[in-house]
Amino acid sequence: MDSKAWGGRFSAATDRAVETFTASIAIDHRLWRHDIRASIAHARMLTSVGLLSESEGESIATGLEQIAEQFAQGKMTFRDDLEDVHMHIEAALIEALGDVGRKLHTARSRNDQVATSLRLWTRDAIDGILERLTALQSAFLSSAKSAGDTILPGYTHLQRAQPVLAAHYFLAHIERFERDRERLMDARKRVNISPLGSAALAGTSLPIDREQVRQDLGFAALSRNSLDAVSDRDFVVETIFALNLIAIHLSSWAEEWILWSSQEFNFIDLPDALCTGSSIMPHKKNPDVLELIRGRTGRVNGSLQTMLMLLKGLPLAYNRDLQEDKPALFDAVDCISGCLDLAALVAEGAKLKTSHIKSQLSYGFLDATTLMEGLILAEVPMRTAHGIVGTLVRAAESLGITLSELPVATLAEAHPALPEIAASRLGVDQALASFQSLGSTAPSRVAAEILRWQDMIQQRQARTNFK
Ligand code: ARG
Repeated sequence: MDSKAWGGRFSAATDRAVETFTASIAIDHRLWRHDIRASIAHARMLTSVGLLSESEGESIATGLEQIAEQFAQGKMTFRDDLEDVHMHIEAALIEALGDVGRKLHTARSRNDQVATSLRLWTRDAIDGILERLTALQSAFLSSAKSAGDTILPGYTHLQRAQPVLAAHYFLAHIERFERDRERLMDARKRVNISPLGSAALAGTSLPIDREQVRQDLGFAALSRNSLDAVSDRDFVVETIFALNLIAIHLSSWAEEWILWSSQEFNFIDLPDALCTGSSIMPHKKNPDVLELIRGRTGRVNGSLQTMLMLLKGLPLAYNRDLQEDKPALFDAVDCISGCLDLAALVAEGAKLKTSHIKSQLSYGFLDATTLMEGLILAEVPMRTAHGIVGTLVRAAESLGITLSELPVATLAEAHPALPEIAASRLGVDQALASFQSLGSTAPSRVAAEILRWQDMIQQRQARTNFK
């Protein structure tokens, strides 16, 4: 009476409302490639251990490849009564092969099947994002290289603080995205584990060879406990968490450049092709791409909350709640992939407005801290030096001049060593040239960092392997 794979136990057909409510095909069809790949590996293994004959194994593999072709061409029709992608593929196989198709699900449950497909999908998604991160880093590196000796005002509390090389600024973003790469690569280790063979929850009494499937699918290890393997979605949480830090890094960068592209900052020019206009104000050129990058962060965070809430109430082992993992994961991956692609375009296309930036560098006492450090080198205690320079800043501010414009007599009065120190340290150029600590904006340090990154990124891009 019911054509369902599990229909045998039921005396009544499923309510249509239940079918609609429980179906996931509209979302999980995206797993088809990975599900078919895992099924082919499973069928090969069933053949090796004698649960399928050679010819049955071959028919199943060929049948699955034809189904893959149907998916690729968009010819697969989705039916809510077939629930999910796994059932669609199995039903199509049975329709093509009859009884032979009915053997594919031997020694397997949808519980270990979906865990396997989702791990394969996530592994590919991580690899795609790693590649995109490198592309974005590479865009920032080009900007660092072409920035030359351009100086930017560095900020704390969004108040002018100390001068930094523009290259140093671009490299800061590269560092952030590097840690994001590391986090993803670390999460990938726990994604890259084969749960197939855990069956529904307890394993199977059939003589399967899990190791063969592991090798076939390129997993690094086998899961060690079937109850855990079918219910674990930590790997999804960790992946989405890593994506969230990418989102945060993208968002704070986007916010910065939205500010920088405003008339008030006037630091950066965004290419017309990457901006949008206003339907009423003829003069507008808006940084919508950056705003949407900032805006989508929220969605990725939503996915993380969804996953954490999803898991917290689940007893072992598989529960249908777990089906809700896919919208959260897919959306987070889509958001971040899209944002990274657009971020690379913006990073490549944006131009620093160097002459305007330069014309404003003398404002904001960017050289005050370096002057203070000069006094410290002349053996004035730090707190005393801080007080002396603070007083000078107050004096200059009330006169509406820079520190370097203060009369020599005022400097000498504040401290006898100051005129000489001021002569070698004041002005943003001299202040910048005075830096020396490792990791600082000192020009020689920054030049070395550019070379280090250039090497790393080149080697990475030359490898077909993302790691
Ligand atoms: N669509 C389901 C999911 O995504 C597949 C597993 C269903 N298993 C079950 N016993 N109903 O989790």
